[in-house]
Amino acid sequence: LASAPPLALANKYFQLRPDELNPLWGNPCDDIRHRRIWSKSKWCGTLPRVLVIGPQKTGSTALYTFLAMHPALTPNLPSPSTYEELQFFNNNNYLKGLDWYLNFFPPNMSNTTQMTFEKSATYFDGDLVPRRAHALLPNAKIIAILISPSKRAYSWYQHIRSHGDAVANNYTFHTVISANDSAPKPLRDLRNRCLNPGKYSHYLERWLAEYSSHQLHIIDGSQLRSEPAAVMNTLQKFLKISPHIDYNKLLKYDAKKGFFCQAVGNDRTKCLGKSKGRIYPPMLEKSAKFLKRYYTPHNTALSKLLVRIGRPVPQWLKDELSSNG
Ligand code: A3P
Repeated sequence: LASAPPLALANKYFQLRPDELNPLWGNPCDDIRHRRIWSKSKWCGTLPRVLVIGPQKTGSTALYTFLAMHPALTPNLPSPSTYEELQFFNNNNYLKGLDWYLNFFPPNMSNTTQMTFEKSATYFDGDLVPRRAHALLPNAKIIAILISPSKRAYSWYQHIRSHGDAVANNYTFHTVISANDSAPKPLRDLRNRCLNPGKYSHYLERWLAEYSSHQLHIIDGSQLRSEPAAVMNTLQKFLKISPHIDYNKLLKYDAKKGFFCQAVGNDRTKCLGKSKGRIYPPMLEKSAKFLKRYYTPHNTALSKLLVRIGRPVPQWLKDELSSNG
């Protein structure tokens, strides 16, 4: 039996087990041997019990803000590199390891009725995310928020345009969504990033391959926008958190912003920033028609999926699937 310095040994090991090159972090508290060698200051109870997975531009920040107002829920601390989103499970932050992730959650939660939660809107359509999330957080509750995929695509295009994306600023929305496979690669990439997350059923099936449907809650993002208190009411029941909060008292419609915002006393409100609820021209009729046709098979599959798992079909989906809507 021969040995070697650690690096050489590791190289040898991964030559023999290339399938293990990509780590899959499990919960250290699931195995007493791991728990024993883990730092005394770490505690698995601080891991999030709720994940808001997005997708992007569906109202996920409003939802995150409303959840953070609940006394039983503690959000992650902000990350200097990714703002409020940790984006742990979907990119290279995952390779920074579990300690990196845990540092964003308070080490000593006051009691067990307190839960931590995290929102990263890119989790929804991240290739590896459901598997990685399930390996670490098998009992987590997963919240997805969906709006019309056509509206989502348009909002996303406006979002990256205002972030100065050169390709988006070079091409109209219609050119982006209708780009064919002979279009220049940057345009095709942009089209895919714009349209793919709206194929909701495809991504939800991936989540459902890892998590039971009882762990998944699907929010109608249009309803969150128009009736946030009703949505938060149902959500609190799903999360089984107490006390039960009446969000009618916490949120107030701000006519200037055109959205519900946090009520902060003296009839004042605290709304999300300018990047949420942007003002831009309405979508061209031809783009709306194009997208309605484009998303029909995906919306049909979503409708079937929702019926299969016993969830209501939201009004926006009925409208998208109606012939004259
Ligand atoms: P627009 O800016 O295109 O209108 P996300 O937080 O997932 O990026 O989603 C942003 C979208 O949330 C906004 O898109 C806006 O329409 C929607 N939204 C829903 N409720 C909101 C609220 N209370 N305040 C601001 N934006 C809200």
